[in-house]
Amino acid sequence: MNYFRKGIILFICVVALTGFVGAQQKPSIFNEPATAKQERMKWWTDARFGMFIHWGLYSLGARHEWLKHNEHMTNEEYQKYFDIFSPDHFDPKKWAAQAKASGMKYAVLTTKHHDGFCLFDSKFTDYKATNTPAKRDLVKEYVEAFRSQGLKIGFYYSLLDWHHPDYTMDDVHPLVQVDTSRANYERLNKGRDMKKYREYLKNQITELLTNYGKIDILWLDWTWGKEDKRGKHAEDWGALELIKLAKKLQPGIIINNRLGLDDYADGGDFVTPEQVSPKELESYKGKTWETCQTFSGSWGYYRDETTWKTHRQLLDLLITSVANGGNLILNVGPTARGEFDYRAINELDSLSYWMHANNRAIYDCTFAPGSFSQPENTRLTYNAATKRLYIHLYNFIAGSSLTLPGYAGKIKYAQLLNDESEILYKTEGNDIVLKMPGVRPPYEIPVIELMLQ
Ligand code: GLC
Repeated sequence: MNYFRKGIILFICVVALTGFVGAQQKPSIFNEPATAKQERMKWWTDARFGMFIHWGLYSLGARHEWLKHNEHMTNEEYQKYFDIFSPDHFDPKKWAAQAKASGMKYAVLTTKHHDGFCLFDSKFTDYKATNTPAKRDLVKEYVEAFRSQGLKIGFYYSLLDWHHPDYTMDDVHPLVQVDTSRANYERLNKGRDMKKYREYLKNQITELLTNYGKIDILWLDWTWGKEDKRGKHAEDWGALELIKLAKKLQPGIIINNRLGLDDYADGGDFVTPEQVSPKELESYKGKTWETCQTFSGSWGYYRDETTWKTHRQLLDLLITSVANGGNLILNVGPTARGEFDYRAINELDSLSYWMHANNRAIYDCTFAPGSFSQPENTRLTYNAATKRLYIHLYNFIAGSSLTLPGYAGKIKYAQLLNDESEILYKTEGNDIVLKMPGVRPPYEIPVIELMLQ
């Protein structure tokens, strides 16, 4: 064999081997068949819209849920909030009614955030709502209220803990913000033991997934990237054990992807693009995902924050999520008194109004089949079971014509969704031309429903 042929054979082997390795699946923890996963997650993918609730001691500071970190506060300095936490207007039935009216089908509440404060009654800490003037298990009341409205129940639980005495230093711990040197880490880490903290995590996850009946979602937050040397990683949490424990205690549960188990095919049930733009959501098409978004930038109640998203921006996020096969979980940061503030209520009321008339274009929907092109200034959503395609009109012009290129022969009937009023159309070559209503419908983004052949 001459060198040239040897070279070619070697080249082919290398290519084949690389292809083989590249195509290798990541290892699986649970070996759940794809159809079983789809079935388990069906309610969630059909729901499309949920409510995130960030509520805790930081609501009293009213200047971001990271204020303990941002202001380098010690436990002692932060204690003032614990001592007065007394949410006299807390009535989760109102929260649930508002979520439901807004068309949200599930909720996720911060049972513990990074500050370590627990809204639930845990046997493993004194740093909990029952020991504040609130004197009760607020998670229990949330669960009961939301469940009674038919909403699915989710628990957010922070893996980070800026209060626990065994939790070691990392680059966001409030105590190391001024001096991030190794020497300082070592000084502050004296007596801290992550092994004990891992036990704490296990114990609290066990409590949360045992004491409150069926829990539908566990939303764990968060793990540093592998390359981040001053962060914490899957091993620090005992992540593999935690996910196994959670699925054992609540077999049907849906868990997000923030445990740092990216090396596994099933280290999380869905990915969590946070605060990304509608444009960026397009890149998630084909994955199982939920984008989490705030009204204003902060998750916790932030009194002086004024950059709130408009009604149109929120609708765009919701519609664009569904148009790319994902969910939107929209966050509310209740005040320390336990209420949604007026701006959140206004926003939610606007969404209720739109959802009441247009939710058929959201629930059970996903992206349109590739054979339907997306006309300019629209988004398409699609319900495969009912064979209906929805055209979200981002730039409605009364009395105008809307051309649907290549749609000829594909539709049976067209109507405006909000009032089921007929939309007349004609076929021109390969296209369908819709005649828009002569008067603007009273919705920021009106929707046309096409019944497909
Ligand atoms: C980030 C923040 C946190 C917030 C979360 C919601 O991870 O640390 O404050 O709870 O995003 O996705």
